[in-house]
Amino acid sequence: MEKSVYIYTYGCQMNVHDSEKMIGLLSENGYKEAGTPAEADLIIFNTCAIREKAEQKFYSQLGRIKTLKKKKKDLVIAVAGCVAQEMQKKVFTRAPHVDFIFGPQNIGLLPDLLKRGQKMSVDINPALAGEEFTAERGSRTRAWVSIMYGCNNFCSYCIVPYTRGREVSRPPSSIVAEIRDLKARGYREVTLLGQNVNSYRSDTDFKGLLRLVASVGLDRVRFVTSHPRDLTADLVDAIAELPCLCEHIHLPLQSGSDRILRAMNRGYDYADYRKKIDMLRERVPGIAITSDIIVGFPGESDEDYLETLHALESIQYDGLFAFKYSKRRGTKAYSLEDQVPEIVKTTRLNRLLKLQDEMTLKKNLAYENGIVEILVEGRSETDEGRLCGRTRSNKIVTIQDNGDTEGDLVKVLIMKARMHSLEGIRTDKQAQATRF
Ligand code: SAH
Ligand code: SF4
Ligand code: F3S
Repeated sequence: MEKSVYIYTYGCQMNVHDSEKMIGLLSENGYKEAGTPAEADLIIFNTCAIREKAEQKFYSQLGRIKTLKKKKKDLVIAVAGCVAQEMQKKVFTRAPHVDFIFGPQNIGLLPDLLKRGQKMSVDINPALAGEEFTAERGSRTRAWVSIMYGCNNFCSYCIVPYTRGREVSRPPSSIVAEIRDLKARGYREVTLLGQNVNSYRSDTDFKGLLRLVASVGLDRVRFVTSHPRDLTADLVDAIAELPCLCEHIHLPLQSGSDRILRAMNRGYDYADYRKKIDMLRERVPGIAITSDIIVGFPGESDEDYLETLHALESIQYDGLFAFKYSKRRGTKAYSLEDQVPEIVKTTRLNRLLKLQDEMTLKKNLAYENGIVEILVEGRSETDEGRLCGRTRSNKIVTIQDNGDTEGDLVKVLIMKARMHSLEGIRTDKQAQATRF
């Protein structure tokens, strides 16, 4: 009888895509996806270690699964992802009901691990990165495509270089082959994935890769994440010149204080970063810019924090992910003294988010009465009866259900802007989209 798998996924897009690769691999090995954990024969936790909160969420869900295992003796439980890589055997001490663990660079071993059926095996060999997979994707329209694995940057707060290993770029030929296949199957958009896509290096560099990908002929191409240090003028030119490249960039600043940026080992100062923002806006009209900020890095003073607020006011991001600094074992910043108290971090985060909310809304309001092109993704999750899609600038737009289906590119007149989405009506005007 066919077996079924349920995957809990935490963390970044890379992890979400890794889960798609696991599903692809398992479906080639006779598994189907289970609707709920209770129906599954195999449960995989694809974990994230970026902040303590992400880890805690995983451990509490793992704890809850214990009762299922008691009821169903042959249920197999596996832990994958960045916590598996970081904790290794310690996962078993904390959760003896786990059968085996494997790291983010060992997804390809999964069918073997299942066949072997060995209890408490640990497979976290970093040498296997860069294998090719046929992912089974959650969407029929938009797809993630890995272009590189790992990270060499060692930002002092970050665990990723320890869990994902050193940077390895995937050859352009296999990236392009995967994207050609996606196009043939009707996909309209790809997002190229890597921790620092700007430092992609194989037979070509990142701008070379963008040109190759653009030649496949998809409607939309995106990429995440860019490191500000490695965003060069020629790369910005490539974004400006290639029509399929969407007018959105995620360019994490982390802090507005040069002192903190140095302590974070980010490799740029605020003035460098600000110049790049001006260059992007000048060469790519209408580009939306989003960012990540960490508040409460060890030693962050009120002045440092105010510099971050000033930076946000000056840059005016379209959207922001902001986090309280979370101490990660094994990183450089772990042993720094001068930790910022939790209450101070919370106050700083809340004030920053409030400021950003005002700016996000202002940015969205500028879309009212303009015409945009959206790629329809399906039903709106928050507004039943309506459809949703994204603009090229990555804004979520909802429209009335007029029978458009997933994958349609439609022109929409924006009637109302909200904080998290725009509301529009379908327009048949042949006018060019006036906003991205
Ligand atoms: N490679 C990407 C992002 C990786 S993690 C980049 O360099 O931008 C996503 C975000 O999590 C980071 O941008 C950072 O803002 C945040 N982050 C990473 N480590 C963190 C930590 N220890 N505490 C709080 N936030 C952290
Ligand atoms: Fe972490 Fe820095 Fe690498 Fe991003 S660039 S994954 S923040 S070490
Ligand atoms: Fe988390 Fe690992 Fe991604 S730590 S953010 S799942 S690279």
